[in-house]
Amino acid sequence: MAVRINPSILTADFANLEHELGRIASADLVHVDVMDNHFVPNLTFGQRMVESLQRVTPLPLDVHLMIDDPDRWAPGYAEAGAFSVTFHAEAAADPVPLARRLRSIGARAGIAVKPGTAIEPYLELLPEFDQVLVMTVEPGFGGQSFIESVMPKLGLLRDAASRSGLDTWLQVDGGINEQTIITAAEAGANTFVAGSSVFNAADPAAQIESLRAAAATHLH
Ligand code: DX5
Ligand code: ZN
Repeated sequence: MAVRINPSILTADFANLEHELGRIASADLVHVDVMDNHFVPNLTFGQRMVESLQRVTPLPLDVHLMIDDPDRWAPGYAEAGAFSVTFHAEAAADPVPLARRLRSIGARAGIAVKPGTAIEPYLELLPEFDQVLVMTVEPGFGGQSFIESVMPKLGLLRDAASRSGLDTWLQVDGGINEQTIITAAEAGANTFVAGSSVFNAADPAAQIESLRAAAATHLH
């Protein structure tokens, strides 16, 4: 099974994003954290930024929407060219029709859960999603500590996916470094978002490779 390393540009220099994207050219996808100052107490980018980023990188964009009312706004990110669009379970009124709409536009559909949100209600919906994002910090900010107590969610997801014969990407986001990535890989994750550990490294490309190597040797 493949390991995917998705650096989050939340910790990048927002005034030099084209240059920052060049430093992570060996990544699998670029994780783009969209925050609306309502669902989370922080504000970042919108749809135009996704369009602009896509023009300056060949890497696929993995858009993580930390916004209210994704039912209304998420399809616009798929139309903007995002490779994957992940919305929060806590914010969506109708996750299944929304996921179908994202897929019909041509994006991979993802659903995210905050650390305090149970995953059980979503296990039966797995066929509707291409990826599930298990937050390993409270969404809103980079540089927080990994919450290990959410790891059992990955086991439940992995079992549900394999029972249904699905290759659902199981993603973790928050506090991922060379140590915590091992814990998450052993628990069942195969797609890893890393913000500060990549962009605060002296050599982001070398850091991506160490994360990839650490995960690959501990993949479930
Ligand atoms: C947090 C974001 C993350 C963030 C991760 O709400 O969803 O993608 O950038 O940053 P680190 O890796 O620094 O925890
Ligand atoms: Zn994120």
